[in-house]
Amino acid sequence: VNRVLVTGAGGAAGVSVIRALTRAGHFVVAADPDPLAAGLALADQSVLLPFADDERFVPAVVSAVEHHAVEALITTVAEEMPPLRIGLASLAERGAAFWCSPTAAVSCCIDKWGFARAVEAANLPGPATVLADPDGDRSLLTGLPGPWVVKPRFGRGSRDISFVEEPDELAWAVRRTPGAIVQTRCRGREFTADVLIGRDGAVAGVVPRWRLETKAGISTKGTTFSDPRIDRLVGDTVAALGLEGAINLQGFVDDEADPGATDAVQLVEVNPRFSGGLALSLASGADLVGEFLRGTLGLPIRPERCRHEDGVTMTRYYEEIIVRDPDHGAPAP
Ligand SMILES: Nc1ncnc2c1ncn2[C@@H]1O[C@H](COP(=O)(O)OP(=O)(O)O)[C@@H](O)[C@H]1O
Ligand SMILES: [Mg+2]
Repeated sequence: VNRVLVTGAGGAAGVSVIRALTRAGHFVVAADPDPLAAGLALADQSVLLPFADDERFVPAVVSAVEHHAVEALITTVAEEMPPLRIGLASLAERGAAFWCSPTAAVSCCIDKWGFARAVEAANLPGPATVLADPDGDRSLLTGLPGPWVVKPRFGRGSRDISFVEEPDELAWAVRRTPGAIVQTRCRGREFTADVLIGRDGAVAGVVPRWRLETKAGISTKGTTFSDPRIDRLVGDTVAALGLEGAINLQGFVDDEADPGATDAVQLVEVNPRFSGGLALSLASGADLVGEFLRGTLGLPIRPERCRHEDGVTMTRYYEEIIVRDPDHGAPAP
C-alpha cells in the first residue's frame, strides 16, 4: 500500500487512475485546480493546485507531498510534466517519487506541428501536415492532399478541430483556428493504444482499442483488439521520440489499404500520459496503473501483468457525486 498523489482529478484519465489505485488499496490524494473536479470526491484526500503554467504550481505540489506524506506522484496532465521534472529533486527530498517522459519528448507531443515534423523525420507513417500562416503564403497548402483536418497547434481534447472537404473553405478554417496546422485526413478506423514503457525504453504493454464513439475528445464506446502492426508502430515511435512511462498513441487503421503497406496504419498523436479511455484497457486485464506505480517507485515493471484480452467492450454513462457540505467546491482562498 502506497500514498499516491494523482493530479488532473477532473479528467477522465485522472478519475480512472484514482479508481484503479483505490481499488488496489492505495491511499490516494487527488489534486486539481477545480474544486468541483469529480475525482477529488473519489479519493481519500484532496488538494487544490494552481494550473501548470502558474509559478506557484511546483511549490504547491511540493507542499501537498509534504503535508500528506506522499510516496509517489502521478500526473495525468502533460503540461504539468516539464515543471514537475524541474521540481524532481525537491520532490525526492520529501520522499516522493515521480516519473514521466523526458521534457523534450513531452514538448514534442504537446506541439502538434513539432510532432508532425518529428514523425516525418523518423520516417514514421503519419498524415502530411503543414503549418498554416493565416496571413501568409497559402501556396504551402497546395499540394497537400484533401480532404483536410484543421486543428490548433497546441490544441487538446478535440477542441477547435474542423474537417474540411472543399479547398475554398480551407482559408476560412485556418483563420478561425489559433495557430492552425492543416493535415490530410486519415482514412479508416480510429484507435488508441494505451502503452507502458520501462525506464530502459522497452515497451512492457500495448493495449489497442477502437474508438467506436467519442465525446469531447474522450472515447465513450470502444473495444480492445490486437494488431502486430500497431505493436511495431508503438515500438518505433517510442524509440524515435524517447518516450517513457505511461503514454497513449492515437491513429487510424485503413482496412482498404494493402494490410502489409507501410501506410496502412497511420500515427496521428501521442499523449505522454494516461488516456481518457484508460478504464477499458484496465478492464481488459492490463494493470497499467499498478505497473506504472511500480516503475515510479523504482521497481521493475512486469510485462506479464500488462497483457490484455481482445474483444472487451466499454460503453459509458454519466454518474453523479452528490455532496451535502456547503464548503465543498468553494474556491481556494
Ligand atoms: N489527420 C486526421 N485524420 C482524421 N481524423 C483526425 C486527424 N487529426 C485529428 N483527427 C480527429 O480529431 C481528433 C482529435 O485530434 P488530435 O490530433 O488527437 O488532437 P487532440 O489533442 O485534440 O486530441 C482525433 O481523435 C481524430 O478523431
Ligand atoms: Mg487526441
